[in-house]
Amino acid sequence: MTNIDEAVKILKEGGVVALPTETVYGLAGSINSQAAIQKIFQIKERPFFDPLIVHVSSIEQAKSCTHHWPTCFDILAKEFWPGPVTFIVPKNDSISETITSGLQTVGLRMPDHPLTLKIIQELHSPLAAPSANKFTKTSPTDYQHVKQEFPDLPVVDGGKCQVGIESTILGLENNKILIYRPGMLQKSDIEKTLKDHQLDISVTYHESPIAPGHLKHHYMPKRPLVLQIGHNLEKGHIPNTIFKNPLYWDIPDKPAIAARQLYSKMRELDKETHSCLIFKLKEEYLVQEDFSGIVNRLIKAASYTSPKNFSNKT
Ligand code: TXA
Ligand code: MG
Repeated sequence: MTNIDEAVKILKEGGVVALPTETVYGLAGSINSQAAIQKIFQIKERPFFDPLIVHVSSIEQAKSCTHHWPTCFDILAKEFWPGPVTFIVPKNDSISETITSGLQTVGLRMPDHPLTLKIIQELHSPLAAPSANKFTKTSPTDYQHVKQEFPDLPVVDGGKCQVGIESTILGLENNKILIYRPGMLQKSDIEKTLKDHQLDISVTYHESPIAPGHLKHHYMPKRPLVLQIGHNLEKGHIPNTIFKNPLYWDIPDKPAIAARQLYSKMRELDKETHSCLIFKLKEEYLVQEDFSGIVNRLIKAASYTSPKNFSNKT
């Protein structure tokens, strides 16, 4: 286990360390070390076209990474940071194109975890950090998850992640806020804050082709995950062979609990000697805003859904 002082030392020397956040563990390197950024991509086996989020410990530090910090994001950051929301803004020269995969924008977030905030403060530099898992695989929400996947990596133990799925990612285009990736900070939370500040800006879901897990499949566990929506399993399009010894999980009714347990369940169930995982989701959750981030991850993680052609309205 790596402590704060050791983590700061490693980061200063251009190394990488896995750090806890309230969403998922991140694989962090200083934005000032090109070597660290390259190591992140190598360790994750992540293609260079997928940009990294930059983590800061204050709004001032966020402003130091951009040449335009929009008023609406300033208001939202004051309300929700530290917390599970990332703002995409135009980058300045302090952020290399290796971090942003050649884009002229950068994702900025202040994570809500005391250890990681302390590390960023002591380092006096923001940290680029994607989730600490191999590319397209399930994100880690506990110290042990990272250790199992990367036994040799220094990891700061911050316990279990309290939110459990990755941050909501927001872009701003033509004075409209776009939700590129849903998370546990919801559209209605954003709208309410903007309205309280008399800002007339619309907020819409818009999965960006350049943003997160935009691949159709992401977050996948090792064994097939079957997402069962509603009461009955429609097996037609699912190979019968995978149902030899399934393991079931009823997705909890409280979205905060469902999100907190989601990736842990995928990993926990993965270890067992089961043929597949059947995650049962009540149909009404498909239209419940608080479940939008969870449903988004489930659909990407699932090898099969039942029914095959359900309609996802979130
Ligand atoms: O909660 C989180 O956001 C976690 C923790 C560690 O902070 N981080 C995380 O990072 O989920 P990652 O790399 O696994 O996912 C970030 C996503 C990437 O898929 C990337 O496509 C998108 O954010 N992204 C980063 N910079 C972007 C940019 N400039 N424009 C559009 N999308 C961007
Ligand atoms: Mg990720």
